Amino acid sequence: EDKLKIQEIISQMTLEEKAGQMTQVTLEVVSKGKDPFNIIQPLELDEAKLRNIIVEHKVGSILNCGGFAHTPQKWQDLISLMQEVATKETRLGIPILYGIDAIHGANYTDGATLFPQQIGLAATWNRELVEAGAKATAYETRASSIPWTFSPVLGLGKDPRWPRIWETFGEDPYLISEMGVAMINGFEGDNTADKFRVASCLKHYIGYSTPLSGKDRTPAWIPERQLLEYYVPSFEASIKAGAKTIMINSGEVNGVPVHGSYKLLTELLRDKLGFEGVAVTDWADIDYLHTRHRTADSQKEAVRQAIMAGVDMAMVPYNVEFTKHLIELVKEGAIPESRLDISVERILKLKMDLDLFEHPVMSFEDYPDFASTKHQQLALDAALESITLLKNNKDILPITKDKKVLITGPNANSMRSLNGGWSYNWQGSVTNDAIEAENTIKEAIENTLGKANTIFVPTITYNEKDVYSAENKSSFKKAVNAAKSVDYILLCLGENSYTEKPGDLESLVISENQIELAKEMAKTGKPIILILNEGRPRIIREIEEVSEAVLHAYLPGNKGGEAISQVLFGDYNPNGKLPYTYPRFENDIVPYYHKYTEQLPPSDGSVYQKSLFYPQWEFGFGLSYTTFEYTDLKVDKTELTSSETVKVEVTVRNTGKRDGKEVIQLYSSDLYASITPEVKRLRDFKKIEIKAGESQKVSFELPMNKLAFTGRKLNKQLEAGEFILSIGSEKVSINLKDSKTDI
Ligand code: IFM
Repeated sequence: EDKLKIQEIISQMTLEEKAGQMTQVTLEVVSKGKDPFNIIQPLELDEAKLRNIIVEHKVGSILNCGGFAHTPQKWQDLISLMQEVATKETRLGIPILYGIDAIHGANYTDGATLFPQQIGLAATWNRELVEAGAKATAYETRASSIPWTFSPVLGLGKDPRWPRIWETFGEDPYLISEMGVAMINGFEGDNTADKFRVASCLKHYIGYSTPLSGKDRTPAWIPERQLLEYYVPSFEASIKAGAKTIMINSGEVNGVPVHGSYKLLTELLRDKLGFEGVAVTDWADIDYLHTRHRTADSQKEAVRQAIMAGVDMAMVPYNVEFTKHLIELVKEGAIPESRLDISVERILKLKMDLDLFEHPVMSFEDYPDFASTKHQQLALDAALESITLLKNNKDILPITKDKKVLITGPNANSMRSLNGGWSYNWQGSVTNDAIEAENTIKEAIENTLGKANTIFVPTITYNEKDVYSAENKSSFKKAVNAAKSVDYILLCLGENSYTEKPGDLESLVISENQIELAKEMAKTGKPIILILNEGRPRIIREIEEVSEAVLHAYLPGNKGGEAISQVLFGDYNPNGKLPYTYPRFENDIVPYYHKYTEQLPPSDGSVYQKSLFYPQWEFGFGLSYTTFEYTDLKVDKTELTSSETVKVEVTVRNTGKRDGKEVIQLYSSDLYASITPEVKRLRDFKKIEIKAGESQKVSFELPMNKLAFTGRKLNKQLEAGEFILSIGSEKVSINLKDSKTDI
């Protein structure tokens, strides 16, 4: 029925209306003021500009927040006016599709619940929690009448030099797929017409996350076999899960900008992966085919390349040049109008699937759970489950609440560094009442221990340019003095918020003055507890050496201070696990699924002394205040054919004195293969809770197909032979009796 309605609308549409539907502009374009990006100035719509864009130029989509967060009521006003104009003043009354980066909560709405960033969610290894968080985000986003979020990021987060690692689910294709699907289910549910759901957007298709230089939006070189083996699976799984939209990688892969790649946008995305939704560009990326990538010698040629490659909607975002060029190209015969029909059909279907024709605006009163205690608790749970205990010498943690502590470091009293980028504004640099009401690490600890038992000396702070200011070295002395009267030093180090290019790095090593601070504090002889609050694994080798315990908090969101305090003082038993390999040296950045030649060979006295894989901490690693023992790893059969499934079972016992959660991780190792096999690959996981002293049997069903790899001819294949399945240090061998290709 919807299809017929859509066909009916398309049959009435002019070329101009079709091109308009494929255009997306930013909110600033329809707002008052010469400099609407100026965040001090409250944003107001300019009705003349709005009518020009929507009525005159027939634009179908708007994005962004105008530089800062608005209250839900303000969003309602903004969107109501847009929808009013679109539905009542245009010939066909097609509603506007509004989109925003609600990536860790409705992070552009004042007072909304803010969750950990994606990298922290991945560290929970908890599918249900991730889905529940995304559901709450959908609810709070739709409460502002915004039906579309540009989330999740499905890029392969395996190169920490890249500044958007924290927006990913880490380095493993399977973990990314599982978390991605959970998030999409949370955003979209079974039906996006439900007033509590939003459309998701898979980002950034494909190969964005591993530029060779490590710098944002610089060329990536990804051999096709790698692309298929490691980068495609998360997109494939999310497309199967029904994700409605996809955003295209701004960069180039193997010399071809993805926005102009028919091979990637049509042959792979549509023909092979079966994606039927809307493909939107990233910011100004069609223009950039001309001005940056230089595959197009004019803006108009850039439009032709992108549309013929498979783009449905252009995030233009500042003008309607794209729309004009598109109309001209069709008139000149360079693009068939039928090509536009395909995209317009997808866009109208999305608008229908979101029920925008019937309900373009929601009433905030229908969203009583906006920022409710229930949602806030969910954000706290997610922050708690993300925190990863990486070191705990002699069980120094948890600290009993009768102790005295010194709190120091640039992240000790900063909400900004807890939240990261895309929080209230793009770089996360805004402070407002909502954020002031939350607790920093220092404030949460003061609440727990009482002010009398805490001393706070900020020492290093971030200056206005977001870099650490070194001028306050004299304050180190103050901290050293203060340390004399305390039992522990809580050293809060890491990074300030950033995203995209502004987060590019000169060195992955954590800033020098933080290393210096750690060394000075170590000289006091008081035990150092390192609290790492950072968006990517910065090299901290020298700091780790002087720390008795290390807690990795990633970017835990508004509830991060509270969560860190609960873990430090034993109100919560940590259970997060690293979603990436934490490198020890800058030159040794390899994921856990590396090749045998990247490991230390047997000590044969040969010249191969140095390993690439000598991480600070391994992928999947994370301690608890209790201990778990794995025994009796068993399979139901050891000889299998390619169409069979093996049942794997292990007994896990909580051997410590506290109840705790544990992530049971199932890996496989292919011993010999026609493509050099990886040392191991994650195949499944389960997070369970076990009471102190109790045991649980945990089982997995592993279809042999999951052991397939992308072979020499780029097809998925299974090769007969021995595989080792492992959980913890338990191992069992199985034998695959037959080979199979094209899985
Ligand atoms: O969604 C984002 C994308 O991740 C980076 N460029 C801008 C888009 C819209 O804000």
